[in-house]
Amino acid sequence: MEINEPTSNGHASDNNNIKAINDDEYLSDFLRNHRDFDVDKVQSVREIREIAENKLSQNASLYYNCGSGLHEQTLLDNELAFKQYRFRPRVLRDVAVRDMTTSVLASKVDLPFGISPTALHKYAHDDAEPAVASAARHLNALLVCSTFSSKSLEEIAESAPKSIKWFQTYIFEPRDITLNLVKRAEKAGFKAIVITVDHPLTPKRPYKYKYTVLNNFLPELFFGNFGMGDDTEPFNASVTWDDIDWLRGVTALPIVVKGVLTPDDAVIAVQHGVHGIWVSNHGGRQLDGAIASVDALPDIVAAVEGHCEVYVDGGVRHGYDVLKALALGANMVFIGRPPIWGLAAGGERGVRRVLEILRDELSEGMALTGCAELSDISKEMVVKKTYR
Ligand SMILES: Cc1cc2nc3c(=O)[nH]c(=O)nc-3n(C[C@H](O)[C@H](O)[C@H](O)COP(=O)(O)O)c2cc1C
Repeated sequence: MEINEPTSNGHASDNNNIKAINDDEYLSDFLRNHRDFDVDKVQSVREIREIAENKLSQNASLYYNCGSGLHEQTLLDNELAFKQYRFRPRVLRDVAVRDMTTSVLASKVDLPFGISPTALHKYAHDDAEPAVASAARHLNALLVCSTFSSKSLEEIAESAPKSIKWFQTYIFEPRDITLNLVKRAEKAGFKAIVITVDHPLTPKRPYKYKYTVLNNFLPELFFGNFGMGDDTEPFNASVTWDDIDWLRGVTALPIVVKGVLTPDDAVIAVQHGVHGIWVSNHGGRQLDGAIASVDALPDIVAAVEGHCEVYVDGGVRHGYDVLKALALGANMVFIGRPPIWGLAAGGERGVRRVLEILRDELSEGMALTGCAELSDISKEMVVKKTYR
């Protein structure tokens, strides 16, 4: 039997009459009032997503938004996991001025969150990755470029030459493909190499993605860094930690491993001399049923014992999510889909708006939890809500 909450007049309420703000109602109201889709006026990532969905083709929307597996469980869990954490705010600590600048692998950036590598931005907007790079430069935010970008890494670097950029790739077979990309990234001024390690193969993603999207890719949407026009699976399932040692031997750039979800692997990564561990489940696109990345974070931070930096991504949709991840020990937090939604909604301006919204929400959250600087954010500030 369900027990209804008493209402203010003391009577038990009828569940059907409870008037809460319903997401769908709110969003259709929002769209009715924003026919001109002015991204500058948008107030939340959720609204930007709504605008994007109205502009993206059905195939593009499926491609960007899908997870993996039949249930896309991890995709859902990433966002839900943030909602399980609650703040324990401190008060009276002079938060009139909030400083969000930080340093990551010895580079100074103005925000403690950056842009995750995501493939094929031309599918979202013709201006593609250079628009994202220039938005990131505008806010002095860290950008990580995907190996599967629509534009070449050189074009992206040229569009924001002075900003801090990292290059993400994989250990391909033969390794010369990786080596060549790493050398090009070094030459183009990228500051670190991110090796994605959760991708021995591409798992089955929802059938609509597999059978509609892939078969309808237009030729001009193929990759900017190399031609890969056939159906060959480019990923290499035989990669091991030895390949990380090999990579360390061929580049002087710092190395980050992206896609670690257990303390055991984090300890091994430290033993292999990596400079950063990126806690991620690939935005729920690889192992469906994998733990939400923010839930994996605290144990990994503890296991690493400060030997290298630790980052996290997956499900970050609000500045308060960034604050929670920082409190749980991340040195840097990343966002994957939100910049794509910004790009689709309004090109460079849309991506900038996403970064500004998250920045302002983070600043607000810092004020309300008593943090003037990032170093004031501590693990005592959050607790996981448990249900008894
Ligand atoms: C459309 C799409 C493409 C992606 N492409 C890559 C990629 O090329 N390399 C990579 O390491 N991760 C890739 N990712 C994973 C992201 O880097 C990131 O881990 C994930 O999107 C974070 O979750 P979020 O989208 O919930 O923020 C991709 C994710 C999406 C949604």
